[in-house]
This record gives sequence, C-alpha cells and structure tokens, in this order.
Amino acid sequence: MPRKGNYGVDYDDYDDYDYDYDYDVEDQVEAPEPKKETSSDKVRVWGCSICTYDNDESMTACDICGVMRSSVLGKFKDDKGTAPFKFDFPSPDDMVSNGIRSSKIGSKANLINYRSQKTSAGLSETVKSSDKSSAPMPKGKQGRPGVNDGNPKKNGVADTQSSDETSDSTSSSMPKGKDKSVGNASTSINGGKSHGPTSNLNDVSLSDKSGNSNKASARRSKPSAQYQPNDWMLPDKSENALTQLNLAIVGHVDSGKSTLSGRLLHLSGRITQKEMHKYEKEAKLQGKGSFAYAWALDESPEERERGITMTVAVAYFDSKKYHVVVLDSPGHKDFVPNMISGATQADAAILVIDASIGGFEAGMDSKGQTKEHARLIRSFGVDQIIVAVNKMDSVQYSKDRFDLIGTQLGTFLRSCGFKDSLVSWIPLSAVENQNLVAAPSDVCLSSWYQGSCLLDAIDSLQPPKRDFSKPLLMPICDVVKSSSQGPVSACGKLEAGALRSGLKVLVMPSGDVGTIRSLERDSQICAVARAGDNVTVSLQGIDGSNVMAGGVLCHPDFPVAVAKHFELKVLVLDFLTIPIVIGSQLEFHIHHAKEAARVVKIISVLDPKTGKVSKKAPRCLTSKQSAIIEVALDGTGLRRRVHE
Ligand code: GTP
Ligand code: MG
Repeated sequence: MPRKGNYGVDYDDYDDYDYDYDYDVEDQVEAPEPKKETSSDKVRVWGCSICTYDNDESMTACDICGVMRSSVLGKFKDDKGTAPFKFDFPSPDDMVSNGIRSSKIGSKANLINYRSQKTSAGLSETVKSSDKSSAPMPKGKQGRPGVNDGNPKKNGVADTQSSDETSDSTSSSMPKGKDKSVGNASTSINGGKSHGPTSNLNDVSLSDKSGNSNKASARRSKPSAQYQPNDWMLPDKSENALTQLNLAIVGHVDSGKSTLSGRLLHLSGRITQKEMHKYEKEAKLQGKGSFAYAWALDESPEERERGITMTVAVAYFDSKKYHVVVLDSPGHKDFVPNMISGATQADAAILVIDASIGGFEAGMDSKGQTKEHARLIRSFGVDQIIVAVNKMDSVQYSKDRFDLIGTQLGTFLRSCGFKDSLVSWIPLSAVENQNLVAAPSDVCLSSWYQGSCLLDAIDSLQPPKRDFSKPLLMPICDVVKSSSQGPVSACGKLEAGALRSGLKVLVMPSGDVGTIRSLERDSQICAVARAGDNVTVSLQGIDGSNVMAGGVLCHPDFPVAVAKHFELKVLVLDFLTIPIVIGSQLEFHIHHAKEAARVVKIISVLDPKTGKVSKKAPRCLTSKQSAIIEVALDGTGLRRRVHE
C-alpha cells in the first residue's frame, strides 16, 4: 500500500469551517467574568519568519510552512562577513545551455521560493548548485521518504538546480550561535579548479562548549579523497537484487497520474483484487466511480472527496529490472511545493499527458502544470522521462492526436533541455488498460502503434548512478518520534554511502553523533541500506530535538559543509510580477530544508545562449533572465520585517 507524504497544508480547509454564528443565543448568555491570565496559562509561541504563524514553543520548525525556527539555527556561528558559499558544479541547465553533454543525476533539489512582498510570485531557478551540497532545515511529519509539506498559498517560487556531477559533500544552512563552527564555509568557482564544499570541509570544525560527548567536538573533517568505503558498503553483485528506481509521476491536474499509478500497482499484484473491489465500491458510493484506481493512492478523505491528489503518495512495484518506487505527485497548482518534494527524489519521471480534446491544451496553457512540471523535473537533474499520453480512449486512439501532442510538447521539452534520445512517448489509456504492461489490445491503437508498452519503457530507462563509494550523505526528509522505534527516527533517501546498525552517524547541522539502532526499508527491517535507498533510520544516544527534517546525516569524519550565505546562478521563470531587487525576500529550499532568505547582491545577468556575463551589477531581475546572485539566509530579519 502506498504511504502518503506529509499532508500538505490545505488552506481551502477554511472554506469548510462553519462560520455561522448564532448571535441571538450569544446575546442571551451572560458574559462570563473575564479570567485573569496567569503565567501558566500563557502558551509560549514563536512566530514563523516566513508565514508569521505562531507555533508552539516545542516546535523546532514552523507547523505551517516548515521553515526552521531561528533560535535553532542560531546555535551556529553567524558567518556574516565571510565570502558566500558557491556551488561548484555545473547544473544540468548549465550543461544544456553550454552545449555540454549532461552526465545526469546525482541528487536534486535546491530551490528558492521568491516571496515578492504581497504579490504573487515569480519562479526563479538556480542553476549552479551541487545537489550533494547544501541543506537548510524545515520540519517533517511522518516518516515517508518522498514528501515534504506544502504550502499551497505560497507565493511563487523559484526552483534551483541540482548538479549532475556529484560533489563529495553537502553544506547545511549555517546559522549563528553558540557552537563554534565553520571557519569559512565559502567556496569559489573562480580561478580554474573549484574550491568546492569539499575543500572547505577542512575549515569546518564543531566544538562543543557544553562538553557533550555526543557532539563531534573539535573534530577536523578529512578531505573526502581520503574516504575509503568498507566492503559491506558496496553492493554485493552476487545478491542479484533489483536496482531501485525512484520514478516521479508528474503532469497537469486530472491527467490521470493516480489512476495510472493505481493501475500499475494493481497489474503488478501490489494491490489485490479484493482491495480493488473495495476501492471500486467505496468510490461508487461517493459518486466518484471513475476514481477507483486513483483511490489506491489518494488515501485521505479530503483527497477522495475532492478527487485530487494533494501530497505525494509513495508506492512500490517490481518490474523485470527495477524495484520501482512510485512517487505519485499532485498536479493541482496549489500543491506544486508537494510535487517538488517528490521530484527532488526522482531518478526518472513519467510525464502524464491528458490526450483528450481540451485536456492537453489546458496543461500546455500558461496556467497549466504540464510545462511547469516538465521544467521543474528537468531542473532537479532528471533527464530521462517517459511521456505517457493518457486518455487516448477519449480520442479514439487517434494517431493524429498523438502526433500533434508529440510535436507541440516535443518542442517544449527540447527547450527545457531534454534530449530526444532520453524521452520516450507512449500512447495509452489507464482506464481501459491499454498499453500499460502489455501490447495494446485495442485495434485502433495497435493498427498504428507497435512500440513499447509503458512497463517496457520503464525497464528501458538507464539505471541511476549511485554514490556507493562516497561518504555517507542522507538529507533528512522526515523525523518520527516513537517509543517502539527508539527515541528518534530519521527518514530520507540515501544520496551517498551506506548505513547499517551500530554505525555512528553525525547529524548536521546540530553536530550531534548518534548510533544507528535499526534500519527500515519499504517498511521492512533491513541490515544494510545503500545509496539510492529510501530508509527510516532509528537513532539512539542522541537528543531527538536535534534531529530535524531538512538536516543531513553524514559520516562523522566527513561532515557536510555549512553555510548561510550563497552565490547562486538563477533562472527567473516567467511568473514574476515584480522584479527581483536587492533585499527581495526568498525562500531557500535545498533537499528538504527551507529557510527564509534575501537577495544581498545581484552580481551579473547572463546571456541565456552563451551563459556569459551580459551585464554586471544590474539593479533588478525580471522574468526569463538568468543571473548570478548572492543570497543570505536570514530568518530573523524576515520575521522582524513581517511583525513591524
Ligand atoms: P491530480 O492528482 O489531482 O493531479 O489528478 P490525477 O492526474 O492523479 O488524475 P486522476 O488519476 O485522479 O484522474 C482524474 C480523472 O481522469 C478521473 O476521473 C479518471 O477516471 C480519469 N482518467 C484517468 N485516466 C483515464 C483514461 O485513460 N481515460 C479516461 N477517459 N479517463 C481517465
Ligand atoms: Mg492524482
């Protein structure tokens, strides 16, 4: 059964509240004596720097938008005055624009949400970043790799890019504070050989004034070149296990993503006939008979009632070649932040297109999600996609319609940097089970289509590259605190290295060291987990409050670099309503971390064709411009401004 990710915030909930208030009754009731507030009555709260929500004192990150509480960040030394952290690896888009062959896939996910003050937003896409590089930190709810919270009312967004080449280390957002840390986490991309995060790890030292022995006290990190994996960390070729493939299912709202995912799970035996009957019966009872397969993925009552996916559902099935992790994403524009959290974990994607008349056009419209999802998925480093042209039954399996979609969408995908050779096109119908796991039985379709079915296309995807022999790196997607699993469990996808019980791991940016008590993969206890696996890691000997979604588990001798000041290459997408200027507020996302940030410098505008500097120090950035900017993470500053 699928596991749902965090239930993203749905502001439409407020519509359902009963605001009817019976004033007459109220009038008749004697007003109670006002109760004097005692100090014990006061609920201690802290205001979120992004959404201003008043969170309970016990929360380390905002319950609404996931932004970290500034006092948590405040544990770290303020690196103001140091040079900004620079991502030192080219992004896929860099390579595309420079005509360099993309080498594909490391991990993904760095993005910036541009919060234009009180306006809708613009989406800017940073391009120069290292996936394996940085991570500020938000919250998480239940332990599900694959999902983040989403704030549907979020102002537009910027997505940044991951690099294809992998860097050896990551950086976490580096705040100020009591721990002495980080000499200088900045890196330089100038001057030939880059001084990446790795080289700066030598400068990262964590000292613990409290004398807590669990801290990586005054530990000097080693250069990652010195890292030698143990034998158990490398995959055992004799094991003959299926390679895990994280497959994001993306596309415009109602294109049939969940129906397609549900069908695949049913056809592969992951959903039994009995379960399917139950879904059919329940869906019919609610007048949503056509959503029976989608119900397998859309589990929450609200998703079912509204007939839309709101958070990423994670499910599994095995093909001949892969253990496929299905990340069924929401298509509705309000839930793009949730879609992003699935996309950031993807090795490949299925872009689902609604072939029906008007359906395809709606997705391609400037307000449609087909283009946005395609662009996002590409910017997270995914370069192989399957375009599932769904609902072909509604156009009588017309070849002309399929060709028209191919021509129009193909041009757009090329402009995003997808190579023709890494895009496959499959006409199908999820509802009529045509061309999913076997050749089509419909004569109209089989008369002109003799290519692969969807399952074969999945098996034809290139296996993802995994960093087995690099130091451990696991961005934390979610944290679970339960008595049965041990004090605290961290969930996420292993980007590099390996884990097993008894191993000591460093939690960044807190600097605490914990011991792995047990590991779970696909809800099963496992002995070893390696790069690419989505796992739940139960930790012991550690203060649970220092393990946070958005943080990173790493090797104690090879901690990620930490920074709070970044130089980024960004692409401003075309949803921007007001220009980006110095001081513009942003949300900085990297892996599962989200931090308030602001633009401190606009260094240069780049020529989109050549990537060369076309203008230095411009006053502002507008839609579709590519630029180098300097960004500082600044939660407290934002909070002050919001409250003033
Ligand atoms: P979101 O998650 O909200 O973006 O929607 P989705 O893309 O997951 O779509 P979903 O699977 O919920 O299906 C939406 C509607 O499309 C349902 O009524 C499905 O029955 C219908 N649908 C899905 N696949 C097909 C298909 O192959 N043919 C036809 N005719 N309808 C389909
Ligand atoms: Mg859906």
